[in-house]
Amino acid sequence: MLTLTSLPVDIIIIVFESLGLHDFTALSLTCHLLYSVVVDYGWSSFLHSNPRPSHSLANARALWTPHNRARYDVVTDSAWQRSEFIARPLSRMWPGKFQTVMASSSSRLVVGAGSNLYSYSFGIAKSSTASPPVTFEGAISLLEYPDRQRNITALTFIEGGQDRILDVAFQDGTIERVHLISMTSDTGRPILSFTRSKLTPLPNGDFVESLLSESNIILALSSNGQARLSSNHLDPSDTSPPSIIEVKSRSWVSHLCLQASTPYAAFGVSSNTPLNVHAIADSGQLSSQPIAILHTSRCADLPIEKLPSSAVYGLSRGPMNSPWGSSPQIIVSGWFDGQVRCYDLRSSSRTSSLSKNGHTTAGPAPLRPVLSLADRWSYEPIYSVSCGGGSASHVAAGTARHSIISFWDVRSPKNGWSVHAPGNDPSPVYSVILESSRCFGVTQSRPFVYDFGPGVSMDTYPPIPRVKGIDNLKHKKGTNRATYYAMQYEHNSSGLCSQ
Ligand SMILES: *[C@@H]1O[C@H](CO)[C@@H](O)[C@H](O)[C@H]1NC(C)=O
Ligand SMILES: *[C@@H]1O[C@H](CO)[C@@H](O)[C@H](O)[C@H]1NC(C)=O
Repeated sequence: MLTLTSLPVDIIIIVFESLGLHDFTALSLTCHLLYSVVVDYGWSSFLHSNPRPSHSLANARALWTPHNRARYDVVTDSAWQRSEFIARPLSRMWPGKFQTVMASSSSRLVVGAGSNLYSYSFGIAKSSTASPPVTFEGAISLLEYPDRQRNITALTFIEGGQDRILDVAFQDGTIERVHLISMTSDTGRPILSFTRSKLTPLPNGDFVESLLSESNIILALSSNGQARLSSNHLDPSDTSPPSIIEVKSRSWVSHLCLQASTPYAAFGVSSNTPLNVHAIADSGQLSSQPIAILHTSRCADLPIEKLPSSAVYGLSRGPMNSPWGSSPQIIVSGWFDGQVRCYDLRSSSRTSSLSKNGHTTAGPAPLRPVLSLADRWSYEPIYSVSCGGGSASHVAAGTARHSIISFWDVRSPKNGWSVHAPGNDPSPVYSVILESSRCFGVTQSRPFVYDFGPGVSMDTYPPIPRVKGIDNLKHKKGTNRATYYAMQYEHNSSGLCSQ
């Protein structure tokens, strides 16, 4: 008789591709042989079909067994289902209010506030049950003259720069390449220093509002709507000229996707067509005309010139696990009207692009969203969006006021919920980075994190002096001492605050 265990291992591995968590657990309880096949191949197969990209965990996870990685992900997913997390500020409040920016790589998280960069490094946990630590690595000031304020407007890690090369843009139009140098003092304390070089500044009072890097390419979008796609010049022999197009509107945010079958860049601007997708040719040229215009369904049947003006401030690739699959052609966008709209560039649900006199208008017809998400208790603009979270199916949106981040599981979009930053800063959430277990955010006053993963302790994040009421922080009775109180509410509840 043919039994499962008599099959060659390579056949068993093919069978594994269709199995889920409970199948692997059950299988590993049946006999020694299947237990070791699951340990050797099963959990890797599970992880392969359930990816959970997370910069802050990447180095630690590389040292974990597949079984420990799978366990971490399963425990994290279940904490998301219960909306249970640790809320922590990453620093004391800064003196002053800043329009902040944030970027992460697999070694560190960097926050730009005013003319300072604050760096948090991602460590490796001492045991496989402790959460990988995030430690404050130091702050550097990028002032040129002590008496001349110089605000950072955008920053990005340069891919291929070993997680320590950043391009940083300033409000005065200058752009610098910063090399972070991290050392330890004789007493073991981390010290952060840097070198920097100037890149070509923008003319005419224009400045870079959004900077992105992928592969060897950098995309810079200026406030006046100049989009520049150029080489990252890490390889000095690469002298290819940049591709520049004019988006011709006050511009806010961009999204770069080189993995799609047609690589593209999307731009969020203030206009009657606030979200436009431009193709990137093999030669590295941006198409000057958009290949897609993304708009709201409400005004879908109006001709383009009649569309009301709006703005898009946040853009992200869609979640890996969504009803539309994990395609890089899914775009999630945060709008001025408080809505988060998801688009599928493969979708044919376009509006008729007939103008009033019956002639087809030039350019592509506006594409309707495949899903719109909103917190019905908030009409505040959305400033930032990011995707990931539990089951890799969540969208996080940072709003313009009350330091609120809203979360939705795109598989059940009606059951969204929102949470204020610890300390309840009266501020926008300017930037949000959603990983699998961690959601990093930054207000005008400080960066913070919500951590849904197991093993978080007092030592996982930088210490805050334990003084009652410090920086408006509160502990909640009877909870993990590592957490601070964060006011939370469900979008579908009838009262405002459920906790
Ligand atoms: C820097 O930013 C602060 C607050 O975000 C603002 O008050 C100040 O005017 C800015 N300074 C410059 C030189 O742009
Ligand atoms: C409200 O949302 C929560 C999850 O956020 C869900 O568990 C609950 O069933 C929902 N309640 C209703 C009445 O839909």
